[in-house]
Amino acid sequence: MQIRTATISDLDAVANVEAECFPPAEAATRESFAERLKCYGNHFWLMFDGDKLISFVDGFVTDEPDLTDAMYEDAAMHNENGKWQMIFGVNTIPSYRKHGYAGELIQKLIDDSKAQGRKGVVLTCKDKLVNYYAKFGFVNEGVSNSVHGGVVWYQMRLTF
Ligand SMILES: CC(C)(COP(=O)(O)OP(=O)(O)OC[C@H]1O[C@@H](n2cnc3c(N)ncnc32)[C@H](O)[C@@H]1OP(=O)(O)O)[C@@H](O)C(=O)NCCC(=O)NCCS
Repeated sequence: MQIRTATISDLDAVANVEAECFPPAEAATRESFAERLKCYGNHFWLMFDGDKLISFVDGFVTDEPDLTDAMYEDAAMHNENGKWQMIFGVNTIPSYRKHGYAGELIQKLIDDSKAQGRKGVVLTCKDKLVNYYAKFGFVNEGVSNSVHGGVVWYQMRLTF
């Protein structure tokens, strides 16, 4: 498997993987990914099996300590010199799950964020994934303000 960051030329592959992994109410749209890739393609970590995109993680960088719904849609809020690396999405296509691929990408994001001098990483997730992220050192800060997709999200933080 190869890992690299993204450019706008990855738009179709990224949008297709997202649509395979999330229900429509929660999936980011192709338009949203186009904006994200233009503003912070260097904060997407993509994993390929040959030419096939099988998993990715993405999120911008900001001085804001808490992850808000506005961030998903407003790529211009990205601040390349910000303190916190956010995680907006973690996706592995169904046929490649449970091989540690998302885990490898999360670890790479953590390592790169440390090397870039960030303060830490922040994400939101559903309750069923709280234990998964805890394995990487993320601490559950409780229910977030997010109303994304009409479900309950927990905010988790890894402080370096
Ligand atoms: C959540 C998601 C990204 C995980 O992707 P993944 O590549 O399967 O993740 P990993 O392989 O790193 O870990 C998944 C599980 O497989 C286990 N695993 C890892 N390697 C394994 C292996 N070789 N054999 C068996 N199990 C393994 C992990 O321990 C983990 O187990 P757990 O759920 O009990 O903690 C994927 O299921 C997905 O895309 N889901 C839909 C979208 C989503 O909900 N994203 C998260 C938003 S918060």
